[in-house]
Amino acid sequence: MRVDWNKYAKHYDNLNHLIAYQDLKKQILSNANKYLPEKVTNILDLGCGAGNITEGLVRDFEEAEIYALDSSSEMLNVAISKIRSDKVIFKSFDINNITKFQPEVKYDLIVINNVLYTIDDKYLLLELLSNKLSNNGIIILSDPIPKEEYSYLRILLKQLVSLKSAFKTLMLVPSLLYIYIINKKIDLAYSRLNRDQYISLIKEKKLQILNIEKSYSEQANLFVIKK
Ligand SMILES: C[S@@+](CC[C@H](N)C(=O)[O-])C[C@H]1O[C@@H](n2cnc3c(N)ncnc32)[C@H](O)[C@@H]1O
Repeated sequence: MRVDWNKYAKHYDNLNHLIAYQDLKKQILSNANKYLPEKVTNILDLGCGAGNITEGLVRDFEEAEIYALDSSSEMLNVAISKIRSDKVIFKSFDINNITKFQPEVKYDLIVINNVLYTIDDKYLLLELLSNKLSNNGIIILSDPIPKEEYSYLRILLKQLVSLKSAFKTLMLVPSLLYIYIINKKIDLAYSRLNRDQYISLIKEKKLQILNIEKSYSEQANLFVIKK
C-alpha cells in the first residue's frame, strides 16, 4: 500500500501548531547552526513537504542556495505558496530514484526529516547522500520511532500541558483528527527503524555520528551525521 501524500498536503501545515513539531523544527536548525561551518553555500532539503523546515533554513542560512525536493506536487504547491525566495529551488523528485540525482554541487547540509522511513532502500540512499556532502558537510536525519513504541498520547500530552496551546488544540481538533487518521494509514504502509538499527546502518556506511537526540516528544530520533 502506498500513501497519497497529495491528500495530506492541505492539512499538513496544522502540524505547525503542535509543540512537538515546533520543537523538532527548532532542534534541526540548532543542530545545523552548531555543526555547520560559518559559510554554508548549498543545502538539500529532501522530502521538503510543505516547506516547514525549508522556511527555517531560508531564515537561518540566508546566503545558501536551497534545493528542496518532494514527490508530491500538492506538498510542493503549499511550500511554493509560502516561500518566496530566489534562493530556493523546488523540484518534483521521487527519492527512490536517487541514483538519477546527479547535482553539480556538493551539499554543506542535507536535511531528511520524517521521510527516510518511506524510502525503499535506506542503505543505498544514505550511501549516495554521503557522497554528495561537501568536505565539512553534515546530514541531519530525523525519523519517527517504530509504530510498536510510538505514542500519539505523549505528543498530545505535551500540547495540553500549556493552557494556551490546549485551547488552540481544541480549535484544531477536526484537522488533528484528520492528521491522526492519515498517520495511521502511513503507519500501515511503511515500517520504521529503531535507534539502534539506524546507528548500525550509519556505521555500516562508515559514517560518523556527531550527535543523537530524541525529538518530537520523544517519538523520533534525530541524528547528525558526517563523512
Ligand atoms: C511526513 S512528510 C515530511 C515533510 C517535511 N520533511 C517536514 O518535516 O515537514 C513526508 C514527505 O515526504 C514526501 N515523500 C514521501 N515519499 C517520497 C519519495 N519517494 N520521494 C520524495 N518525497 C517523498 C511526502 O510527499 C511528504 O511531503
